Amino acid sequence: MHSVLAAPDYDLATWRSRIPLLASLIPMNNCSQAPQTEWTRAAAERYLTSWNDSGMDWDSWMAEVQLAKEEFARLINASADEIAVFSSVSEATSAVASTLDFSGTRRNVVVTEAEFPTIGHVWLAQERRGATVSWVPVRDGAVPLDEYDRLVDDRTAIVSASHGYYLNGSMQDVAALATRVHAHGALLYVDGYQTLGTIPMDVRAADVDFLAAGNLKFLMGVPGIAFLYVRRALIGAMRPTVTGWFGRANPFAFEAKTLDWSSTASRLDAGTPPVINAYIARAGMQTINAVGIPSIRSWLEVLGQRLIDGGAARGLTLHGTTDMRRKTATTAFVVADSHAVESFMRARGVLPSARGPVIRLSPHFYNTIEDVDTALDALASAVGAT
Ligand SMILES: Cc1ncc(COP(=O)(O)O)c(C=O)c1O
Repeated sequence: MHSVLAAPDYDLATWRSRIPLLASLIPMNNCSQAPQTEWTRAAAERYLTSWNDSGMDWDSWMAEVQLAKEEFARLINASADEIAVFSSVSEATSAVASTLDFSGTRRNVVVTEAEFPTIGHVWLAQERRGATVSWVPVRDGAVPLDEYDRLVDDRTAIVSASHGYYLNGSMQDVAALATRVHAHGALLYVDGYQTLGTIPMDVRAADVDFLAAGNLKFLMGVPGIAFLYVRRALIGAMRPTVTGWFGRANPFAFEAKTLDWSSTASRLDAGTPPVINAYIARAGMQTINAVGIPSIRSWLEVLGQRLIDGGAARGLTLHGTTDMRRKTATTAFVVADSHAVESFMRARGVLPSARGPVIRLSPHFYNTIEDVDTALDALASAVGAT
């Protein structure tokens, strides 16, 4: 028997009282969109008030974007000057890809079949620029590290990996992958969208070169903003062709004929940043940092094990691993029609996330054991009824 925490080491009831949606629904769709909190709502209103009262306040608005970068850096043990801001992870990936030269012998890009499709698309689009994309296969719902050994060699420019597989929550050991990738002099790009906010991540300890994530999932934010960590030692040589005035040494120099570069990761910034989204994103990340990611992870291991055991007890078919050490907050079950199951469950007060052949149950720090049991009961009824 594993030891089971009866409650998290933070005040669950107080945090729950700040999430109005909990009065009417059980959100288990955090892998897709986390619920609004009183703080994220207040942050959006702070921007609207500033706009309404002052008409225009670029200094405060840009300061808020910088504070959002700082909050993101805090999540991953980086510094704000190693963070760039985008409106999506797709854009962040394109900006990184645009800095790579695929005209020499290092032209291979190694991507996994577990990538969120957008990442695969960005790398495939580089083939026109000389890149060759090869795919690490998914086996039994996960990407075995050994598979990289076949594909990563001295012709590899970059390896692009998902820290957590969006479909079933299987988790990659990115530190071990970094060692393998760097042994061949290649770079490691990590998509942390499905893990940040729930799994401790220290980019220095993990030794990754790039790490990107958006904010609407476990970071408790909204669509339309994403952040990218860039290892400091790489920044000076980066010359993205996806660029714009916020990538300049001084964006307010207004020198159209000068393409200079910010000395920080903001050289990857492009146009006017998504200001209102930065207000909300910062508030969401502040909540996560205040609760504490190690505590969140401990609680989500309890809820994850409950999902695995409870799913088995109800005869549900798990997709992916039963090993909690290799799982994110997401547990997926195979169903015949995931969208019909999602609608059925929503009508019974539970919000899951349908994705292709599976229904994903993704609790977060504010969910309870009762939430998990109710969600599993609703899923079992849905499987019987749909
Ligand atoms: C792992 C992962 N990466 C990327 C994305 C999408 O990125 P974006 O829409 O910000 O480009 C998602 C989900 O939307 C995802 O789950």
